[in-house]
Amino acid sequence: MMADIVEAGLIYFGKDGNAVPSRKQYLADIEGVVPWTWWPHEEAGHTDEAKRESQEIFGTELAFATPKPERLLQRIIHIATNPGDLVLDSFAGSGTTGAVAHKMGRRWIMVELGDHAKTHIVPRLCKVIDGTDPGGVTEATGWKGGGGYRFCRLAPSLLERDAWGNWVVSKDYKPEMLAEAMCKHFNYAYDPSTEHYWMHGQASETSFIYVTTASLTFEQLRALSDEVGENRSLLICCMAYEPQGETLTNLTLRKIPRVVLDRCEWGKDDYSLRIDALPMMAEEEPEAPAQKRVPKPKPGAAGDLFDNGEEV
Ligand SMILES: C[S@@+](CC[C@H](N)C(=O)[O-])C[C@H]1O[C@@H](n2cnc3c(N)ncnc32)[C@H](O)[C@@H]1O
Repeated sequence: MMADIVEAGLIYFGKDGNAVPSRKQYLADIEGVVPWTWWPHEEAGHTDEAKRESQEIFGTELAFATPKPERLLQRIIHIATNPGDLVLDSFAGSGTTGAVAHKMGRRWIMVELGDHAKTHIVPRLCKVIDGTDPGGVTEATGWKGGGGYRFCRLAPSLLERDAWGNWVVSKDYKPEMLAEAMCKHFNYAYDPSTEHYWMHGQASETSFIYVTTASLTFEQLRALSDEVGENRSLLICCMAYEPQGETLTNLTLRKIPRVVLDRCEWGKDDYSLRIDALPMMAEEEPEAPAQKRVPKPKPGAAGDLFDNGEEV
């Protein structure tokens, strides 16, 4: 109750008693030491220490130009996080933040656009994981090695500015990237098959995904269903489909949102596409009738998959 907290002297109303009330915290009630803004180098390290650490890890040739001492990151991470928390450094440099976070039992994400993502961060974190980096805060944290990480490379930028300063789909953008994006969106690994034109990716040994900007007739869907067979399942992302196709039990049908398709006018610079959050069409939206009939997809060529075909 508020009255009890006031009674206990834990609320401060200002010198004159009419300020905005604020909560009082007494040193005696706080475990450890309250963070202080003055961080002496004896505690948080210094530039020379950081350079030495860098040389020990990478050798003098590869030593990083602007490293931070591990003890500095240890203090920051100690104050700001708890074990198991996620630490982000979007300007990772030589990877000090991730290395220290790892040794302190935190999860981490590092982003680095320079080549040192590979020449420095990867070997450094491998040493941390192998337990072969004895420097920095290894001893202080009692780190012995363990854990792991994933290295991901970002795709080239999808959007660029046109002559009028508007964001547009980059000319380098390829239709295959739509398939890859849809795979990611639905949690399928993008892995186009050379054997089956409808296998763009897979979620398990028996479940696959097919992405096409075509409208699929029931006849086409039935042919696909037969090919997929009883023991496999296929998620089809297409422009539109004949509703009867939903009766085919080994197929799951999803429409690629019109807003995305309209903007996938390859080679034109008058549309933009937000690929990070592909909006899916509402379930209750009426199915667009598959008026646009397309030739039956030809097996074999991945290029077919994005061919809208000619009206027949
Ligand atoms: C000062 S360094 C970071 C040093 C790091 N704290 C350490 O201890 O090694 C800054 C880093 O940010 C990277 N960087 C700059 N712009 C970036 C961006 N847009 N995305 C990712 N990394 C970027 C640079 O390549 C550089 O390695």
